[in-house]
Amino acid sequence: MYRTHTCGELRLGDAGSVVTLAGWVQRVRKMGGMTFVDMRDRYGITQIVFNQETDKELFDQSNDLGREYVVQVTGTVNERYSKNANLPTGDIEIIASELKVLNSSKTPPFTIEDNSDGGDDIRMKYRYLDLRRSVVRKNLELRHRMCIAIRNYLSGQGFLEIETPVLVGSTPEGARDFLVPSRMNPGQFYALPQSPQTLKQLLMVAGIDRYFQIAKCFRDEDLRADRQPEFTQIDCEMSFVTQEDIIQTFEGMAKYLFKEVRGVELEGSFLRLPWIECMKRFGSDKPDMRFGMEFVELMDVLKGTGEFGVFNDAAYIGGICVPGCAAYTRKQIDQLTDWVKRPQIGAKGMVYARVQDDGSVKSSVDKFYSAEVLTRLKEAMGANAGDLILILSGDDAMKTRKQLCELRLEMGSRLGLRDKNKFALLWVTEFPMFEWSDEEGRLMAMHHPFTHPMDEDIPLLDSDPASVRADAYDMVCNGVELGGGSIRIHDSELQEKMFEILGFTPEKAREQFGFLMNAFQYGAPPHGGLAYGLDRWVSIFAGLDSIRDCIAFPKNNSGRDVMLDAPAMVDQKQLDELCISVNETAVKNANQ
Ligand code: AMO
Repeated sequence: MYRTHTCGELRLGDAGSVVTLAGWVQRVRKMGGMTFVDMRDRYGITQIVFNQETDKELFDQSNDLGREYVVQVTGTVNERYSKNANLPTGDIEIIASELKVLNSSKTPPFTIEDNSDGGDDIRMKYRYLDLRRSVVRKNLELRHRMCIAIRNYLSGQGFLEIETPVLVGSTPEGARDFLVPSRMNPGQFYALPQSPQTLKQLLMVAGIDRYFQIAKCFRDEDLRADRQPEFTQIDCEMSFVTQEDIIQTFEGMAKYLFKEVRGVELEGSFLRLPWIECMKRFGSDKPDMRFGMEFVELMDVLKGTGEFGVFNDAAYIGGICVPGCAAYTRKQIDQLTDWVKRPQIGAKGMVYARVQDDGSVKSSVDKFYSAEVLTRLKEAMGANAGDLILILSGDDAMKTRKQLCELRLEMGSRLGLRDKNKFALLWVTEFPMFEWSDEEGRLMAMHHPFTHPMDEDIPLLDSDPASVRADAYDMVCNGVELGGGSIRIHDSELQEKMFEILGFTPEKAREQFGFLMNAFQYGAPPHGGLAYGLDRWVSIFAGLDSIRDCIAFPKNNSGRDVMLDAPAMVDQKQLDELCISVNETAVKNANQ
C-alpha cells in the first residue's frame, strides 16, 4: 500500500494517528534543526516535519529532497504550533518517521505553485507540470463535474448518448476541414468532423428521437481566446420538436448546470432578442448584457444638422453614453481614439461629448454644431451631468456597429462592469439565413445549409433570399456564444433548393450530400437540435479569459501542440504509402 491518506485529507481530529502519504515535494524549508516539506498531491498539501533532534538519520536523508521529488512518508499526525488558515490541512503536520524517495526529479523549469513564474510558452511545453498546479487542475475537475451533470440531465430527459465516427467525409460548417489521407484508398481523404451535424440528423431519420454526444470537433480556422482547432461540443438533436420545445429543453439544461455545477440559481426565462435588434442595440450577435451603454442611433440628430462633413456623409452614426467619465482627460480621449483606430477595430476616428456639471455639452465637434443640436444629442443619449458620450460613424452601418461594439466592451471592462461572477444569458433568434461572402462571391449559410428557414419567410427564398430569416437560435452568456442550433430541413426538395441558393450544382450537392438527401426520402421526421461548446461553458464557470485553460492539452495560437511538437513532418516512407508528395516550393512560400 503506497498511502493510507491523501495529502488533502488529514485534520485535527486525526492527531496522534500514524499515517502514510505519497506525493510530490512542493517546497522544502530548512529552519535550524528542522526541515519542513510541503507535500502535494491532487487533493491538497500537507506539511511534513523532519526533526534533527528526534531522528538525525531521517533528518539527514531529508536534506537530499529536491522540488518535485516523488516521496512516500510515514509519520504521526501532530497539531501544528503555527496554524495555516489558508490550507484545509493547515491545523496539522506529520512528524516523519520514515521517508522513501519513489522518484527523483530534475529541477522544474517553473515553480509549481498557484502564482507560477512560468511564462505561457514554457508552461505549455511542460503542460504535465503545469497541470500539477491546483489552479489549472481545478479547471479539469470542474470540467469533469460538468460532464457528469450534462449526462445526468440529458439522460433524465430521455436522450441517448451515441458516438459518431471521427473519420468522416467533409461537411461544410463555415470553417476548413482537417483532412486525413486514406492508405487503403490512395488519393482519397477522410475529413475530421467540424461537428456531427449530418450524422445526428441521420440518427433522427433512424428514429433515435433524442440523441446527445460529448463530441470532439475539429475546425481549421483562425484561433482566438474562445476558439481551439480541436474542441468539444455537447451535441444534441431531437425529433418532433419546434424551436420552442428546443429552447425550453436547453434553457432547462442551462439552469440545471448553473445550479448543480456553479451553485447559481438563474431566475425566470432568458431574454430572447431577434438578431437584428442585437445588432442595432449592441453591434453584436453575442451581446454582453451584464451592463448597459446600449447604442443610440444618431443619424437624425447629427446628420445634416451641422457642418461636420464626416457625419454628413455617413451611412451610420451611433453613440454610447459612458456614465461618470466626463472627466476623462484629453490624453485619455486621444488614447481611446488611437485604440479605435487600430487595424483590429478599424474606426476612422471618434467624436466625444462631455456633459458638464451645469448640464452643458462640450464636444470635439462644437464648432460644427449649434448648442441646440448638442442639447438634442445629450437628450437622445439620455446623458446626465458627468457622462461622456462617444460617437462613431461610417459608410457601412454593420461595420461601424461592430466597431462601436468593441468600444462598448472596452469601456465596460475599464469601468469594471464585466464581473465574472455575474451571468447574463439570452437567446438570440431570427438570424439571417444567408450572409454574403466576399471571399466566395456567393451567399453562404449563416448557420449551416441544413437549417430550416422561418416558415413565414419561405416564399422569399426565390424573390429575396438575402432577407430570409432562419429558424435558428444561439445561447449567449456574458458576450460568449455558448451554443447554437436550429430546426432542420427534413424535406429533400427544400434541401435541394437550399443547396441551389448556396451555389451548389445538383451534381455537387448529390456528390457531397447524397447520403442525407437519400435518407430524407425514407420518412425523415421533423427535427432540430443544438450544440453547446463545452470548453466555453467550463471557462465561463471558471471565470477564465481563454478556453485553453480548461483543456488538458490545448494548442497554441498557431494551432501547435508545443509539448508534442505537432504538427510535424513525417517520414518519406509514410508519405509514399499514402501516395502523397509535399510541394516544397509551396511550403516555402507559405512559410514566408
Ligand atoms: P456551431 O458552429 O454554432 O454549431 O457550434 C456550436 C458551438 O460550439 C462551440 N464552438 C467552439 N468552441 C471552441 N472552439 C471552436 N473553434 C468552436 N467552434 C464552435 C460554440 C458554438 O456555439 N452543428 C451545429 C450545431 C447545431 O446546429 O446543432 C454547430 O456546430 O460554443
